[in-house]
Amino acid sequence: MIKTVSTTPYQDQKMGTAGIRKKVKTVIQENYLENFVQSLFDAIGGVKGQTFVLGGDGRYYNDIAIQKIIKMSAANGMKKLIIGQNGMLSTPASSRVLLKNHADGGLTLSASHNPGGINGDFGIKYATANGGQCSSAISAKIYERTKEISSYQTLDAKDVDLSKLGVQHLEGMEIEVIDPIKDYLLMMEEIFDFEAIKKLFKTNFSFVFDAMNAVTGPYGVKIFEEVLGAKKGSVHQAKPLPDFGGLHPDPNLVYAKHLVDLMWSDNAPDFAGANDGDGDRNMILGKKFFVSPSDSLAILTDNYAQIPAYKKGIYGVAKSAATSTAVCRVAKALNIACYEVPTGWKNFCNLMDSNRITFCGEESFGTSSSHIREKDGIWAILFWLNIIANTGKSVEQITRDFWAKYGRTYYLRFDFDGIDTSVADQLMKDLEANLKSFEGNTYEGHRVTDAHPFVYTDPVDGQTTQNGLLVYFEDGARICYRLSGTGTNGATLRVYIESYDPSNFDKDAKQELSGLLKVAMILADIEKRTGKNKPDLTT
Ligand code: G1P
Ligand code: ZN
Repeated sequence: MIKTVSTTPYQDQKMGTAGIRKKVKTVIQENYLENFVQSLFDAIGGVKGQTFVLGGDGRYYNDIAIQKIIKMSAANGMKKLIIGQNGMLSTPASSRVLLKNHADGGLTLSASHNPGGINGDFGIKYATANGGQCSSAISAKIYERTKEISSYQTLDAKDVDLSKLGVQHLEGMEIEVIDPIKDYLLMMEEIFDFEAIKKLFKTNFSFVFDAMNAVTGPYGVKIFEEVLGAKKGSVHQAKPLPDFGGLHPDPNLVYAKHLVDLMWSDNAPDFAGANDGDGDRNMILGKKFFVSPSDSLAILTDNYAQIPAYKKGIYGVAKSAATSTAVCRVAKALNIACYEVPTGWKNFCNLMDSNRITFCGEESFGTSSSHIREKDGIWAILFWLNIIANTGKSVEQITRDFWAKYGRTYYLRFDFDGIDTSVADQLMKDLEANLKSFEGNTYEGHRVTDAHPFVYTDPVDGQTTQNGLLVYFEDGARICYRLSGTGTNGATLRVYIESYDPSNFDKDAKQELSGLLKVAMILADIEKRTGKNKPDLTT
């Protein structure tokens, strides 16, 4: 039976870089989730007669939230929900299912790479019919609605059994529980040369995929072990756990240190890849070798012709402004466009929809192509495996060949976490006001040639967004500052730094960039304002 429940608004339901993301303890407050979901439905003009895709990364509260959303969807007159079995769908698989079924929207229950468990984070990403996360204009509308919501619609009904594949009905709404891997696997088989990768796995090539106890474990077992023939047990931490086994499921050198240790040990396999909580991020490692995500995007682009789906040619490429410029050098050589967009995957979607780009990526371990409208962790790993299978080269050799061709971009991101929000906002405001005064001056031997806010006008919808501040130096170095839009704990200032060397590829990145980090701290007056004399996290 449909019922209307009275509620009062929460004032903090603003969506950030990738949906709404909050502490679990916030989300489990009475009506918190319901308020957000009803506001979303209201803001988009209702969901009557529509079809949505629903799933999550299996984190704490996934099971409860999904039942609430099912009942609210039925009560709001939705026609059909397509749900991953047991409530599981990786972010890239969800985008695929949405596009394949021409659904009207999708909800992915995830706080991505943020920790899970009762003390961790929960989140909802909302995708529109194009398969990508909603525009800032839509999220602003949803936010406005959350501030005035006074009731929501739900059902008095018992929970739906999500373990059974197939169709069932709830108050006139159709629910189709699907295999979360099947469509995704089919798509991967269409893109890559599976036969070549199967042959690679028949040699003594050794491989590890670390799913970080998150959603891609079963995808990895199916695709790498069962279909492609990687040794049983190649997928590590393969069982999705509500608290990710205590891991921070962010595949980088800090949070996937266990994998890094393995790759620097005597038992290191030839290749290791890892994914984040919801399967859209990836890290690529070779024996004692790390591929920076910005380089990975550039290397994949340079090797596009190795892959069946891209052989015939690619459109342009795009990167977030914060990502290193390595891929731009490749684009120039290939004579294709290189777009620079604000941080957040949604900013790539119009470029893909209008056939302006094929590949895109972010420094935050995200790479993908126009096969979906999200970044895709397993896609990136398959791409690397396909290159290795074709060339017989190691991860390190592929990367070194790339540097030899284009020079090396040294790149790191420095995060200053848990800053008081007003302090962080003021820091950015003052830095922006000072930018012009840096031009022509030399700091620690680096002369500033240009400094300006990054402002992007989307060529398709004409929307203008400002995101971050950029400082360029005469020697090809660059600093980008921006505030995170995904944190749940005060503000995080991200400082992205790169330098370029056409011929010396063996410097230590931390050492190479230490002088520029000092400059970055001076220009933004970081120590005095935040009390921090060094970053909390370097990735
Ligand atoms: C972070 C990353 C960004 C990515 C987003 C969602 O956002 O920096 O590249 O798109 O997570 O995965 P931020 O916290 O910097 O706003
Ligand atoms: Zn993610």
